[in-house]
Amino acid sequence: MVDVIFAENIDFKSADVFVLVADETGKSFISDKLKMLFGAEISKGISDECKELAYGKIKSFDVIVDGKMRGIIIAGAGSRNKFSRASFEKLGGYIFSKIKSSDAEICVLSNCESANHESMMAYLASGMMLKNWTFDKYKSEKTPEKLKKIACKTGYIQFNKEVFAGLLKIVDGVHTVREMVTEPANVMDPDKLLEEAKALKKLGIKITVLDKKDMEKQGMNALLGVAKGSDKPAYVIAMEYKSDETKPSVALVGKGLTFDSGGLCLKPAKGMGEMKGDMTGAAVVIGALKTLALQQAKVNVVGVIGVVENMISGSAQKPGDIVVAMSGKTIEVDNTDAEGRLVLADVLWYTKQKYAPEIMIDFATLTGAIQVALGHEFAGLFSNSDKLCDDLQKSATTVGEKLWRLPLHQSYEDDIKSDIADIKNVGSGRGAGSITAALFLKHFVDPDAKWAHIDIAATEWDSKERALSQKGATGFGVRLMNDFICNVCSKNGGRK
Ligand code: BES
Ligand code: MN
Ligand code: ZN
Repeated sequence: MVDVIFAENIDFKSADVFVLVADETGKSFISDKLKMLFGAEISKGISDECKELAYGKIKSFDVIVDGKMRGIIIAGAGSRNKFSRASFEKLGGYIFSKIKSSDAEICVLSNCESANHESMMAYLASGMMLKNWTFDKYKSEKTPEKLKKIACKTGYIQFNKEVFAGLLKIVDGVHTVREMVTEPANVMDPDKLLEEAKALKKLGIKITVLDKKDMEKQGMNALLGVAKGSDKPAYVIAMEYKSDETKPSVALVGKGLTFDSGGLCLKPAKGMGEMKGDMTGAAVVIGALKTLALQQAKVNVVGVIGVVENMISGSAQKPGDIVVAMSGKTIEVDNTDAEGRLVLADVLWYTKQKYAPEIMIDFATLTGAIQVALGHEFAGLFSNSDKLCDDLQKSATTVGEKLWRLPLHQSYEDDIKSDIADIKNVGSGRGAGSITAALFLKHFVDPDAKWAHIDIAATEWDSKERALSQKGATGFGVRLMNDFICNVCSKNGGRK
């Protein structure tokens, strides 16, 4: 655990590393107290280093201050009129990477706060905490955490404390997602995922579980078809957090494939292991609800996840099979590896029937094609509502989890026409795989309710370290949903 404190008077002499944030003007900003500690030569050196330090650039060097070797890190924060939560959280991530290898106590200093930017220190610390996550539970030898304390010098102590306390609850939700996604599929199986959802009960979230029998009663044959090849149970889990029913009702729907082998349309061995992360959509829904409940946010949310394993066996679903979805539509299963949309078809329909939300947003690692289109930077956004897209984009900008809208256009519809059923689960053409997948989902949502589908197949995981995450699971989506639900849709009356 790293202790983060905010104070006006910091004991500079205890610091092993000084972090100084510089805006683009490059003017010297070292306080008089610090100048005394550093001495004229180092202070001048720092001022020189600050010149032309672009946003995100980090300079570091070791100096002897007060008889002890210490690190100085200078981080470029860019232009003052572009200071934002997203830019400071990201900067916090960069800084954290830099200090990870150094020792114990850290001092974070800044002159970057001003009347318009009071909570910059909280954002910086939040970014550092977001980045501060590793998964070593299966390593016999753990790397001990050296960093013990981050002391932030600020003139707005109480304000930053409060903002940071809120942000820490979001960090908790993000880390929960990373944890769940990184667990291997032999651990994070449907029962374990159910356990994770049930753990939300203690936060005041109501849990309803549909097992196989319940799903049969509901006619969820599209979902159950996917589950046929697995020895493990399948579930639909609903999580209700309704602390203010006057707020717009939002449903978050998640794809929870605890493993996707592809089914009989088996995936190639190389990279198949990554499919333990095919439950990320469900994890994001759990993480977002956890975050909201921890903050005791006054919102009206239900999360619904479809939890299944896509495997092969003598009873597995076969290409060419036809299933009758809960909505009554018939689906030709042309490819058993396009299973996520089959699961979501029933979960989306069920959510609409049971909860009639005003806004429905699904998170799914739905298509490999989204990586081809957008890489790891942007998640794919599909929606039947311009207003919902605008609102989601506001949150995307605030938190720095980027979305790019792609066409949910009827002209691709022919691609998923089936000769012998209402629709089929893959496109005939070679292109636009993410779009045809989204269009497939559109068949199972209420045309009058606002709906967005967010394809996170490429943003949920990266083989490289990112600003706010180590390589591996990112937890993309929790911060986005937290902002959207707490700030955008609850405050501006997302109904319009
Ligand atoms: N879970 C995969 C999508 C995926 C791919 C997620 C790579 C993360 C990384 C999904 O179920 C799938 O297999 N989609 C197929 C669809 C195809 C059969 C039309 C795909 O993308 O190849
Ligand atoms: Mn698949
Ligand atoms: Zn899948």
